[in-house]
Amino acid sequence: MNQFSGKTVVVSGGAEGIGFGIAQAMGKQGMNVVLGDIDSNQLDIARAALEKEGINVLTVQMDVTNLSQWQNVADKAIERFGKIHMLVNNAGVGNRPGTIEQTDDKDWRWVLDVNLMGVIYGTQTMVPLMKQHGEQSWLINVASMAGMMGVPSAGAYTATKVAVVGMSESWYAELKPHNIQVSVLCPAFVKTRINLSNRNKPAELKSETESDANKASFSAAAKHIQKVIDNGLSPTIVGERVVEAVSNQELYIFTHPNYRKAVQKRFQAIDGAFARAEQSPLLTSVLDEEIVAWSEK
Ligand SMILES: NC(=O)c1ccc[n+]([C@@H]2O[C@H](COP(=O)([O-])OP(=O)(O)OC[C@H]3O[C@@H](n4cnc5c(N)ncnc54)[C@H](O)[C@@H]3O)[C@@H](O)[C@H]2O)c1
Repeated sequence: MNQFSGKTVVVSGGAEGIGFGIAQAMGKQGMNVVLGDIDSNQLDIARAALEKEGINVLTVQMDVTNLSQWQNVADKAIERFGKIHMLVNNAGVGNRPGTIEQTDDKDWRWVLDVNLMGVIYGTQTMVPLMKQHGEQSWLINVASMAGMMGVPSAGAYTATKVAVVGMSESWYAELKPHNIQVSVLCPAFVKTRINLSNRNKPAELKSETESDANKASFSAAAKHIQKVIDNGLSPTIVGERVVEAVSNQELYIFTHPNYRKAVQKRFQAIDGAFARAEQSPLLTSVLDEEIVAWSEK
């Protein structure tokens, strides 16, 4: 028996893609699986697939941007399985690639609501329940490689993913004394339907710019990204990798080691900027001041 067996995982956006891959991998470890998703048809398909593998599954239709719907997921999960031990904040959307001018208020609102508020609401709902029972628990947030470095023409998406990495670092230290292990998954391209995220966009948030002259440049960029996603890693492997890394108690979970050099370049740029600040005659007074720092261990 492993540490996950008999425990319960809630996966937002778990009906397909990366969320489904993680749910399946955790189910294979013997976990009870609760899938929360906005797409009820896809939920039915996912439930049938997991049940075929002998996994205990509960599906709940929900929108991660709605706090009371999160509470409903928690109530139903507890009613069926007793306790919740793992939350995977996975549901997320990719907005159309666009410059500052092309990304309007509605685009920003939608991406911030799903990718950021969705993670906050899920955490606010489930973490107090984990603290109450006190058993070993896990919070896994799905960010992106975009959380490790800014992506041009994807300001809104990048903002949310950097925030998810930052919140995970905060919560890692905060939740450790409560027996809750925090991890943040940062994949590069994975073969999913993320490029068709608009399928779940509420009608009132659809942008006028989607039908004007900008459309051509949007679709050229979208086509390029579609190609990269089509050649991306399989969500099944991502799910297995999450089990491997969580078992190793890793805070940062990477699935694309080929991006290591690119992230190192960012660290070097930051380190270089610190070195220049150290040399500035304006800042000598703070050099010996004690620092207030977060520490991973
Ligand atoms: N695919 C990639 O290349 C990639 C790379 C890095 C990070 N990610 C992240 O992985 C996560 C999953 O994305 P994916 O690639 O599997 O995409 P996907 O579109 O294949 O799956 C997303 C799932 O979330 C659900 N969903 C969307 N909006 C929702 C809402 N408001 N409430 C509840 N459920 C909702 C969808 O119905 C779908 O089942 C996202 O957070 C995404 O940002 C994806």
